[in-house]
Amino acid sequence: MCGITGYIGYREAYPIIIQGLRRLEYRGYDSAGVVLFDGQDINLSKTKGKVSELEKKVTEGVSTKGNIGFGHTRWATHGVPNHINSHPHLSQSGNLVIVHNGIIENYDTLKKELLSRGYKFHSDTDTEVLINLIEEIKLQENCKLGKAVQLALNQVVGAYAILVFDKNKPNELVVAKLGSPIAMGIGKDNKEFFIASDATPFIEYTKDAIYLEDGELAIVKLDRDIHIRKINDDQIVNDLRIQQLQLSLDQIEKGGYEHFMLKEIYEQPSAITDTYRGRLLANKGIIKMAGLDDNLERFLNAKRIIIVACGTSWHAGLVAEYLFEEIARIPVEVEYGSEFRYRNPIITENDVVIAISQSGETADTLAAVKLAKSKGAFVFGICNVVGSSIAREAHAGAYTHAGPEIGVASTKAFTTQITLLSLLALKLGKEKGNIDTPSYQTYLQEMVQIPSKIEKLLGEDAHVKKIAAIYKDLPNFLYLGRGYNFPVALEGALKLKEISYIHAEGYPAAEMKHGPIALIDENMPVAVIATRRGHYQKVVSNIQEIKSRKGIIIAIVTEGDTTVKDIADHIIEVPETLEAFTPLLTTIPLQLLSYHIAVMRGCNVDQPRNLAKAVTVE
Ligand code: M6R
Repeated sequence: MCGITGYIGYREAYPIIIQGLRRLEYRGYDSAGVVLFDGQDINLSKTKGKVSELEKKVTEGVSTKGNIGFGHTRWATHGVPNHINSHPHLSQSGNLVIVHNGIIENYDTLKKELLSRGYKFHSDTDTEVLINLIEEIKLQENCKLGKAVQLALNQVVGAYAILVFDKNKPNELVVAKLGSPIAMGIGKDNKEFFIASDATPFIEYTKDAIYLEDGELAIVKLDRDIHIRKINDDQIVNDLRIQQLQLSLDQIEKGGYEHFMLKEIYEQPSAITDTYRGRLLANKGIIKMAGLDDNLERFLNAKRIIIVACGTSWHAGLVAEYLFEEIARIPVEVEYGSEFRYRNPIITENDVVIAISQSGETADTLAAVKLAKSKGAFVFGICNVVGSSIAREAHAGAYTHAGPEIGVASTKAFTTQITLLSLLALKLGKEKGNIDTPSYQTYLQEMVQIPSKIEKLLGEDAHVKKIAAIYKDLPNFLYLGRGYNFPVALEGALKLKEISYIHAEGYPAAEMKHGPIALIDENMPVAVIATRRGHYQKVVSNIQEIKSRKGIIIAIVTEGDTTVKDIADHIIEVPETLEAFTPLLTTIPLQLLSYHIAVMRGCNVDQPRNLAKAVTVE
């Protein structure tokens, strides 16, 4: 995915755009560009690399004057990340300019047609095809920019959020969306407008925002208004759906932390509290959640629950499989969105599909949601980003309310997803009569203790850092866990590989002897989750097996453990909790371990190479 931000108004546009691009960099950071209109000329600057590279380039001589402009930070899809493929892209005449987030799937056919009409292309991008298609239509039809964009988009197959400007119509910007998000901020008295992939670039300027819906096109006119219409049938959208943003500036700043990832790790106690706030009334023994309560029958009658997700969210889904099957006694299948959508899955009207996604924009999860809906399943979305595509596409759902997660590596999203899924499992278990009242009460009382237990665990940070320093240069890591902590092992390995580029594998501890044990030697650190509850003795045996092959044991144990302490090279103690809630604690030291290793290796933990925060392409 990519980040788009634009401005039209009375202020200098450049500082607003650059600030906005910095905030959107989590969406992609292999190249960046900015375009400004100074009243006469279009001044364009772009480069391979991050927004900081763009700033350097701009100071080398491009004009930053102008009250209209937009910028782009890219995660490459078509064409390698280089200067030429970076956005914005100009049309052949140089009069039109575009930034685009998404993929034009039929770009090749469109390009051939344009080539036959004499268009020349400088980049390998689908976006340059689109802007020339718009230009060609504008010339052929002798129409305004908005109409030309609309007609062009009716020829396009794919996904997009675009922002287009015409030098000959300098008081307006054209915005359109299908499948990729775009928000518009409205300044006082329509004297200025902001456009961005999310609202973070403009929160200090306005709280009034419109999120464009799929298939809509907006013409943003300075001193006038925003006009929205449907791309496919010209229908005017009269209700502008202006929302009040809840976001605040400090939520999207580092707040004194060196990295967003560290801030987000430390935010977990408050994020989890925000997830269950108003939903969990522990003293009254009540769990209430509108999306669930309004659709309780669908859940209670479900023959099975299918969970679809990707990456870390998929790991949360795996934890939920244990939760739902143990507590609610409902069969669960956990699917990667990408596999589910292409293997003709058997889905019936009796199925409930839970889609888990921090961003709510992951293309594979979104496609899985649409497929499940088309087969009649009831779809429940668990998202963090309010108003995101999956949240809107699902029949019902619940937000995790974790606050913005900006570090590309998911941390608080994972623990808040597990918190929400625990509440769902407990409510369903209670309603189905599969959990007795004392156990139910114990779960509820324990859940409210989790934030303070994480707080205590964060006090182990310096200890974890020392362990990180010892093993930071080793090329491989193994992560082992059983039961509820098997998904935590997968998550621990994913965190390490994505931010430190160390090869890491997560395994169910007992599977080790079926293959991975061959890897064990004195250079193989093995992080083993060996909490007192759940298969403890079995895991202790697995630890012995590793030790007898000279492996290095970093064990996550329950406070006061002595058995593993005697065998392991290092132990990290977590507070005692119910087995079902152990992932909420055991995950924390593994997040810290990967964070410190990555920092010590000089890696950019917030923006790891080749990644983007939300994967909005297949
Ligand atoms: O926004 P989503 O939760 O749908 O994202 C899913 C994955 O792309 C995401 O969890 C990814 O694996 C993270 N980089 C993991 O840290």
